[in-house]
Amino acid sequence: MAREHTFSILKPDATARNLTGEVNAVIEKAGLRIVAQKRIRMTRQEAETFYGVHKERPFFGELVEFMTSGPVVVQVLEGENAVAKYREVMGATDPAKAADGTIRKLFARSVGENTAHGSDSVENARIEIAQFFSGNEIVG
Ligand code: RTP
Ligand code: MG
Repeated sequence: MAREHTFSILKPDATARNLTGEVNAVIEKAGLRIVAQKRIRMTRQEAETFYGVHKERPFFGELVEFMTSGPVVVQVLEGENAVAKYREVMGATDPAKAADGTIRKLFARSVGENTAHGSDSVENARIEIAQFFSGNEIVG
């Protein structure tokens, strides 16, 4: 299996509750390496670009509001099969459906405020990483 990079966001509900360390502990225990990380306040423009694929969905406005409502931590995670692996570690989008031990089962409050984002493909990971990090900020 290839060593991959995936893009992660610890969402505003995680920073608001001071949970970034606890979420990072789950990520690291799962064998993923945090090779870049910064805490930022996403602008409306950045959130709209990032979630552009969901523009026509009924929850788009709410999603952009939420993602700009407080600080987030953007990360690059590295590991074997990192994209699929992190999706597994995060659990289902709806925390009520997420498996035990997953980030969303442990910490998320609702389908909207669901603590973490992870890329859904290697190609999208590349695009998402490039939106927030330059190459020299990623140190493996
Ligand atoms: P993510 O992109 O954040 O990793 O989550 P995901 O792939 O599991 O979910 P996706 O379908 O891509 O949706 C992106 C984010 O939009 C919010 N959402 N709200 N209110 C709703 O019904 C609803 N559905 C999705 C969630 O924050 C979800 O993570
Ligand atoms: Mg998604």
